[in-house]
Amino acid sequence: MAPPCYLLLAAALASAACASATSFARYAVCQSTLKPKLLPTLFCPAGTIYVSQTDSHAHFTSVQAAVASLPKDDSPAVILIGAGTYQEAVNVSRTGPTMLLGQTDHPASYAQNLVTIFNTTFINQTTQIASLQDNADSAVLTVAPNKYAAWTGAGYYGGTPGPIPDAFGCTDFKAYNINFENRAANGGVGPALAFGIGFANASFYASTFRGMQDTMFVGKNGSAVFRKSQVLGSVDYIYGFGTAYFDQSLIGTRGAGCTTAWKGTPNYTNTYGAYFSQSSIVRAPDANPALNLTGMQTLGRPWNNASVVVYIDSYMDSTINPAGFQIWSPTDPRNETIYYAEEGSHGPGFNASARVSFDHLLTTKQTRQNFTVEKIFGGLPMWVDWNF
Ligand SMILES: *[C@@H]1O[C@H](CO)[C@@H](O)[C@H](O)[C@H]1NC(C)=O
Ligand SMILES: *[C@@H]1O[C@H](CO)[C@@H](O)[C@H](O)[C@H]1NC(C)=O
Ligand SMILES: *[C@@H]1O[C@H](CO)[C@@H](O)[C@H](O)[C@H]1NC(C)=O
Ligand SMILES: *[C@@H]1O[C@H](CO)[C@@H](O)[C@H](O)[C@H]1NC(C)=O
Ligand SMILES: *[C@@H]1O[C@H](CO)[C@@H](O)[C@H](O)[C@H]1NC(C)=O
Ligand SMILES: *[C@@H]1O[C@H](CO)[C@@H](O)[C@H](O)[C@H]1NC(C)=O
Ligand SMILES: *[C@@H]1O[C@H](CO)[C@@H](O)[C@H](O)[C@H]1NC(C)=O
Ligand SMILES: *[C@@H]1O[C@H](CO)[C@@H](O)[C@H](O)[C@H]1NC(C)=O
Ligand SMILES: *[C@@H]1O[C@H](CO)[C@@H](O)[C@H](O)[C@H]1NC(C)=O
Ligand SMILES: *[C@@H]1O[C@H](CO)[C@@H](O)[C@H](O)[C@H]1NC(C)=O
Ligand SMILES: *[C@@H]1O[C@H](CO)[C@@H](O)[C@H](O)[C@H]1NC(C)=O
Repeated sequence: MAPPCYLLLAAALASAACASATSFARYAVCQSTLKPKLLPTLFCPAGTIYVSQTDSHAHFTSVQAAVASLPKDDSPAVILIGAGTYQEAVNVSRTGPTMLLGQTDHPASYAQNLVTIFNTTFINQTTQIASLQDNADSAVLTVAPNKYAAWTGAGYYGGTPGPIPDAFGCTDFKAYNINFENRAANGGVGPALAFGIGFANASFYASTFRGMQDTMFVGKNGSAVFRKSQVLGSVDYIYGFGTAYFDQSLIGTRGAGCTTAWKGTPNYTNTYGAYFSQSSIVRAPDANPALNLTGMQTLGRPWNNASVVVYIDSYMDSTINPAGFQIWSPTDPRNETIYYAEEGSHGPGFNASARVSFDHLLTTKQTRQNFTVEKIFGGLPMWVDWNF
């Protein structure tokens, strides 16, 4: 008797994925849209929960409903998100490894992602009461054990007191092939986050983060790794307190501003800083064509005087100001104790003789001394998929 045709299809899909792809396609068959309707989670990790707005076989119609259904414990969980555009905010506060997989037939690249999660919440800084509302409250995706652990200013260690996180949050959050978008930001109305993290570890693969001001916040005792991903914004669009590492990613400006506004503090056990490796720092592909952004973007400004930002082997287009980095302000420069560096920068945005005096231009040997992934994180992070 011939095997049922879904098994033949699955075998064909599996062999196609194995043959065409390297190990990046670990979840390619699970993420494929070509599977039999009745078996949406075929070849997904055991227990995968399926979310879809249109498929009656789905367990949930919203991502947050699926996340909320997970046990608040250390058990691993996988959520497969069907192709579609979801307007919602997603909040992952559990501790166990939690993975979101976006349906796609092209897992190697974010360019053909089929899943977008968006919201339009922004913070009006004119009316904001800092003890009640924080910039981080606008995030489309939050990964943190509780509200105050995610906050930018208030909460644990400094700022308005809030409940201290009694535990670390998610030890291993992963997302593949998902677009996170804060669309409020398109008008430049104030802080509007696509992603915020605190007291948690997270990694992203072929995912995008789009906003305008403050697109992403890697907060207190937070560590995040972005591989083959994209971040778009304009004002301080990558900001934080924790450790962020971007690898083979596109960082694109949609207006005048800074790529990074970083803070440092010895209060947390993770090292801190924003690190970019083999990435492109450029004009956003969707920037308003009427804007002349030549020289309008800098590589960073010090949110406090312990700021650390390093660019390694990255391409910079003409949107990067020849000076590279900038001080906070003329009356409060904050550039005495910061550490800003570049190694192997190339492209029209790099001019060694025009760079500010506080930009360390490193050799490859110096970079290998201090800024390998192992050095940055104090050991190779085991929660990252380095095969992608
Ligand atoms: C953001 O998402 C939440 C949860 O789905 C929703 O209640 C809220 O209305 C959304 N906010 C905006 C401004 O879109
Ligand atoms: C996320 O969930 C945590 C834990 O229930 C809660 O403290 C926090 O306020 C939530 N955050 C958001 C942005 O909804
Ligand atoms: C670090 O911790 C100390 C002591 O709790 C606190 O006074 C200080 O404000 C903290 N610094 C930051 C940047 O959070
Ligand atoms: C922010 O609040 C002020 C004061 O209420 C208001 O005038 C302004 O329009 C608000 N901004 C936005 C973008 O809604
Ligand atoms: C930071 O997180 C680690 C877990 O990665 C934890 O051991 C440590 O206590 C946390 N540090 C603070 C200051 O909360
Ligand atoms: C864009 O701005 C740059 C720098 O100010 C200037 O040199 C260039 O001529 C401008 N280009 C256009 C098309 O206006
Ligand atoms: C760094 O900032 C801290 C806190 O604002 C301040 O106390 C300290 O004097 C500054 N250090 C330098 C060298 O400017
Ligand atoms: C690089 O910067 C120096 C110093 O500002 C300037 O003289 C030179 O023309 C610049 N080179 C290019 C290619 O723009
Ligand atoms: C800080 O920046 C100012 C203005 O660019 C510069 O004059 C000064 O030398 C810088 N200080 C350090 C320590 O690099
Ligand atoms: C590397 O780190 C060590 C120890 O912190 C420091 O002494 C050295 O100057 C650093 N080298 C570079 C190139 O930053
Ligand atoms: C979070 O990541 C850091 C850096 O890799 C690591 O030192 C720490 O142990 C991780 N925390 C947990 C709870 O896994």
